[in-house]
Amino acid sequence: MATQFTLNGKSQTVNVNPNMPLLWVLRDTLGMTGTKFGCGIALCGACTVHVNGAATRSCVTPISSVAGKKITTIEGLSTDRSHPVQQAWVETDVPQCGYCQSGQIMSAAALLAKNPNPTDAQIDDAMSGNICRCGTYQRLRQAIHRAAQLYTARTMSGKKRAHDVVRSAHVAEVAAAGDPR
Ligand code: FES
Ligand code: FES
Repeated sequence: MATQFTLNGKSQTVNVNPNMPLLWVLRDTLGMTGTKFGCGIALCGACTVHVNGAATRSCVTPISSVAGKKITTIEGLSTDRSHPVQQAWVETDVPQCGYCQSGQIMSAAALLAKNPNPTDAQIDDAMSGNICRCGTYQRLRQAIHRAAQLYTARTMSGKKRAHDVVRSAHVAEVAAAGDPR
């Protein structure tokens, strides 16, 4: 059966069993192996992707349930690794073996999109379903705080840029109208 959805910003149609988990479709049908298989029963978080912006365990998500929805995988978080979470992960040197990390990053990105400045308790709560066999939990938390700073800096510079554009337009308008004084 054909199922259509949006994958990393592009329309995608797959012809597979409607019960096939999204993780299988991503990895086996579409060859996108950034999303990992860990437990297969929604207990480890390695397979986390975003479905309409929410962190979702793709190993237990039938493909039919995402028809018409927007899926983002680790490959679609940014095209140049410029997403604040990716930058913070590199700066903080989070991964050890790396296997759990795409799931960790996707959970962290979903958290920060909802809550740009989470507390330690909110981080622990949001990340509690993502297991790391290498025990990188302390660096994960540090990296999420760092990503929050990068988000804020980006938002502030976006606001400043918008303010500068408005101000330049105003100055140009005044100049065009002639100085009334
Ligand atoms: S593989 Fe999906 S939660 Fe473990
Ligand atoms: S970095 Fe090895 S499982 Fe998390």
